[in-house]
Amino acid sequence: MSGKFLLAQISDTHVRVDDDGASVRQLQKAFAQARDYKADLVLLTGDLVNDERDEEYAALAEAIADSPAPLFLMPGNHDDRARIRARFPGHGYLPSGRFLSYAIEQFPIRVVVVDQIVPGETFGVLTEGQADWLDRTLAADRAKLTIVALHHPPFPTHDLLFDQIGLHDSDLFQFVISKHPQVARVICGHHHRVAFGQVAHAPAIVAPSTSWAYGLAVHPGQPIAPRTGEQPGWMLHIWTPQGGFASHFMGL
Ligand SMILES: [Fe+2]
Repeated sequence: MSGKFLLAQISDTHVRVDDDGASVRQLQKAFAQARDYKADLVLLTGDLVNDERDEEYAALAEAIADSPAPLFLMPGNHDDRARIRARFPGHGYLPSGRFLSYAIEQFPIRVVVVDQIVPGETFGVLTEGQADWLDRTLAADRAKLTIVALHHPPFPTHDLLFDQIGLHDSDLFQFVISKHPQVARVICGHHHRVAFGQVAHAPAIVAPSTSWAYGLAVHPGQPIAPRTGEQPGWMLHIWTPQGGFASHFMGL
């Protein structure tokens, strides 16, 4: 690993079975790029599939067999926790409780994944219980630089739609992060476009989707969530002991 740590954040893959394989091919292209860059870890930050269907999870399971590095899953608003558990029994890091929250410990950077989806809803909520879990999990290792990953952006992106369907009660998330200066980055997806913000002291980064990009509606009258010709992609987060973090958009 030579002191470097490369996290391939691949988000909003929205795998389908009725798109002639397009969504899977996009994921495979991202894998090929991540392999070229010798990513240490692949994290899929939610909306793994498009319609919570088991056939879609089966297609995803087949695709990720070709992952270039250890791969971790987390749910987005298009996902079903029970189907994820059922289709990925070998993913032993997934806990047995209601939420799919966990910490990845075996790399130079700690990665803490917090599940804040709400079944049947597009927005996310960090429950009091998950906020407490996040606080306790971060407190368990205050010395190691940490990335916290979630699906919904935990800061306003100023998009008229996505601020309504983002992380509700994000103040609670911000409060928890503010207690843990070792949190160096917060990463998320959901918005299908690259954006940058701040959560307490930590820079926060929204990854694009591998499948399609949404436009930005800042002012009334601007189209809400149109699919644009902007390039889909993924994020490569690179850390070195000397240079710290840099995050790169990787176009597909
Ligand atoms: Fe999505």
